[in-house]
Amino acid sequence: MHILITAGGTREYLDPVRFISNASSGRMGYALVRAAIRVGHTVTLITAPTALRTPPKAKVINAETSREMFHAVKKHFAKCDCLIMAAAVSDYTPVRTSKTKLRKSTANLTIRLKPTTDILKWAGQHKGDRIVVGFALEDRAIRHRAENKLKEKRLDMIIANTPSAIGAHESTVQIKTADEHWREIAMSTKNRTAGTIIRRVEALNNRASD
Ligand code: CTP
Repeated sequence: MHILITAGGTREYLDPVRFISNASSGRMGYALVRAAIRVGHTVTLITAPTALRTPPKAKVINAETSREMFHAVKKHFAKCDCLIMAAAVSDYTPVRTSKTKLRKSTANLTIRLKPTTDILKWAGQHKGDRIVVGFALEDRAIRHRAENKLKEKRLDMIIANTPSAIGAHESTVQIKTADEHWREIAMSTKNRTAGTIIRRVEALNNRASD
């Protein structure tokens, strides 16, 4: 398969040197890239800035902001068989980005934010026969909320995790496909979990081509 994977936390700039971002390390996305390549898939990685080494053998595209990531996903989506949105895309971006560095003053500073495009939702709407996989970060009613996202965004698979997974080497995740019940992958390294996710994607792909 040709698998398109996004990873890392996007940056939304306030001015040339300051941005809003999140604590995503990119580890899950990069582990998925390695796991997919190991079993022979062709992988395109669209990555926000991370401190990780780029996996050899993947085609790597850098995307710093949610806007750039959306642009890159749209550009490469047509050629892929599967999209896995492991990136922590910012849900909001500043209404205005100053071209020059903001100067400090003694007054309070209010930053207005506007919603970004939900890339995963866009992919669900335009997927054709592609497999679209999303992540859900939930702190309560995990399965209920994640399942709603699976349906609303027309996904084939959702991987639900909790905020403790952010930046960690190990995590417990729960996986649901559109046609199957929830399954939990007990506390495990992101490398192992990534291998399991790729196998589940392959199973979906095999079923679709039967
Ligand atoms: N995502 C995306 N585009 C965005 C925001 C998120 O494609 N602008 C994707 C992420 O890559 C992830 C999934 O959406 O695969 C889940 O993000 P999450 O923050 O859990 O859910 P949201 O839909 O943003 O809802 P909420 O924050 O309200 O829980």
